[in-house]
Amino acid sequence: MLARIRSLFPVTREKIYFNHASNGPLSRPARQALIEDLRLYSRQADYDLPEYFRRLEKARTTVASLVGANPEEITFTPSTSYGVFVALCNLNLERGDRLLVMDEVFPTVRCCVDQNYPHVDRRYVKFGGRDPIDAVRGHLTRKTRAVVVDWVNFFTGEVLDLDRLGKYLASRRVKFVVDGMQGLGALKIDVRKTPVDFMAGGGNKWLFSTQGIGYLYVNRKNFRDLKRTPTGWLGLDWPNFDSYKKMPPIRNDARRFEMGTRNALGAHALTINIGILEKFGLDRVEAKIQEVKSSLRRGLTELGYEILTPANGRQSGIITARPKGDPAMLYKLLTANRVVLSLRNQALRFSPHFYNNAAEARKVIAILEDAG
Ligand SMILES: Cc1ncc(COP(=O)(O)O)c(C=O)c1O
Repeated sequence: MLARIRSLFPVTREKIYFNHASNGPLSRPARQALIEDLRLYSRQADYDLPEYFRRLEKARTTVASLVGANPEEITFTPSTSYGVFVALCNLNLERGDRLLVMDEVFPTVRCCVDQNYPHVDRRYVKFGGRDPIDAVRGHLTRKTRAVVVDWVNFFTGEVLDLDRLGKYLASRRVKFVVDGMQGLGALKIDVRKTPVDFMAGGGNKWLFSTQGIGYLYVNRKNFRDLKRTPTGWLGLDWPNFDSYKKMPPIRNDARRFEMGTRNALGAHALTINIGILEKFGLDRVEAKIQEVKSSLRRGLTELGYEILTPANGRQSGIITARPKGDPAMLYKLLTANRVVLSLRNQALRFSPHFYNNAAEARKVIAILEDAG
């Protein structure tokens, strides 16, 4: 089974690919499908219209089923940032309203908040290593509209307990906005049990898709309060495209945020790759990643590296460690040995996925050990 899964990802033949927190490689079936799509595009410019919609709706259903949502709770976006922006627009923020933001977020959330909402009372609070309820409790006021967080810390890999915080915030009627980019695909979530109001992410890391396709989950509880922005002509509920004389009504769900023509090729890749993950089973994906990560943790600890990823709590796909020696030199050495990873803040960030194995982890450790 694992050999078959590895054969679906050609990158495994050439490299030890531990860099899914940056980008995930396209699977072989997705590549094949995209090549066929491009052939078709060069012959006739696009899918036939019914096929275009069929593909989009298939992708929507697939993303919805991955998170436990209904299809109309999913809207496609070009990136995580766009999804976070749509969520913030729909919090109906007014001057003086408070937003609590996780201090450790990747710049996606920070820039969306600071650049687009300079007039609101933005409070950054540290979550690292803390119980999430303790982190927010002292900062909640009557004016607090939402808490905005990253599900998984892009640097340390620490996983936020969305379930615990989501339930607490729901009981306080405070909205919960999540950047799920470093979580979904490596970790399982069921939004029927874990209350989140908005969760945005992109397809190009843990979901192995192309860049330019992302998702925003909008909990249907929010449909009644959704604003009409941002939207455009494809946010309207067109019965057909035979005439443009009369404008149909705007959709009353997450799909209203699809402003214009969508990335159908990216959506196609997303459908195929999520299909691969679902077939393997998200529980098993999580367990497989942990196997590799444990092996890395053991080896790096023995080498005397400072492990920056907490050992307790749920584990993401990221493990980051600071070596005693020169991190840039070790990064170069690993890269020269066809190990793909990231150098972040003077530390080595490894991010394996479900098709990686402990033998690859041991090989990485052996290279680092040789370096002394
Ligand atoms: C937590 C997190 N969110 C979002 C992104 C990317 O955001 P976007 O899809 O808007 O480029 C990254 C990394 O690139 C990330 O680590």
